[in-house]
Amino acid sequence: MQPMNTLLLDARVPEDLQHAASLLAAGQLVAVPTETVYGLAADATNPQAVAAIFTAKGRPSSHPLITHVSSIDEVSRWAQHVPAWVEGLLHVFWPGPLTLILEKQPWVPEVITGGLPSIGLRMPAHPVLLQMMRCAGLALAAPSANRYQKLSPTSAKQVMAGLGGRIAAVLDGGPCSVGTESTILMAKADEARILRDGPVTAQQLQPHLPVEVKSFEAHSHAVPGNQKLHYQPEAKLFIKSTKDMLEALRYPSANIGYLVYSTPLATLQSPTFLVLPSDHQGYRRNLYASLHRLDQRRLQQIWVESPPLSPDWLDIHDRLNRAADK
Ligand code: TXA
Ligand code: MG
Repeated sequence: MQPMNTLLLDARVPEDLQHAASLLAAGQLVAVPTETVYGLAADATNPQAVAAIFTAKGRPSSHPLITHVSSIDEVSRWAQHVPAWVEGLLHVFWPGPLTLILEKQPWVPEVITGGLPSIGLRMPAHPVLLQMMRCAGLALAAPSANRYQKLSPTSAKQVMAGLGGRIAAVLDGGPCSVGTESTILMAKADEARILRDGPVTAQQLQPHLPVEVKSFEAHSHAVPGNQKLHYQPEAKLFIKSTKDMLEALRYPSANIGYLVYSTPLATLQSPTFLVLPSDHQGYRRNLYASLHRLDQRRLQQIWVESPPLSPDWLDIHDRLNRAADK
């Protein structure tokens, strides 16, 4: 791939927002902010533009992409035979970090769905992105804006570090407020199954579903792109108990980054030591940014204190387990 000059655009500047929309409409790739993580976007109606996403990311073309829409009304344009219960669900959770897998309309380009008969749809809760999509009449196919199998970015700077020189522009909309990828729910008339844990939990979904929500069989390969190896920093990542961390931090190593959240550890000192908030929303918002920061120090290892085991932390465990060295 020929290196290109990647523009850094500011989402607060109307001309920059307009510029991002024009680039997308012209078939270029622009990384855009969402509330979960930054997405690498292309006009979802332009198969060539969508195909370029796979080259820029270095991602296999069999992995389907999420299509981002700017209203609930757009669902019927992209999906058919939508179960009747879905509309009620969307009114509760959209815009927000919930992706629905539905049967695709026949016209939808195969390059988006990796040849699958289904399509992933999400309406992101980022006001500037929604405004841009609505003004330009755009729907955006977008995976997370990282190189294949690397950590998802939660700031424009992290996108630049990974994809600078490979895409037309990065639209800086500030740090992502949620910080980890959306929950993915497969929706059929008589079945609702979580394919990827995320910020919207099974408990939150259940009251709005007509059937009992199922979860995926651990790391099913039935979903291309849902592989176990994913979301990896450069350094080898290990998950350690609070007790092991306390022990290790008595003699910290300069080659190891430590990421902790609990009170007994949060007061210790080491140059490669970061403390995450102990509430799960704060933890989630800062997790990837902290891993990126430690990774910049070119450490050999990153040790992460094992987070709490309660159900609302499921998605954090999922991401850390995938990032961990096997
Ligand atoms: O929060 C998010 O979901 C972010 C932001 C940018 O919206 N996007 C994101 O995209 O995480 P990506 O490509 O990194 O992960 C999307 C996941 C993949 O694991 C893919 O396999 C799954 O969604 N997916 C997409 N379409 C699908 C389909 N039709 N059937 C099953 N899985 C699908
Ligand atoms: Mg991703």
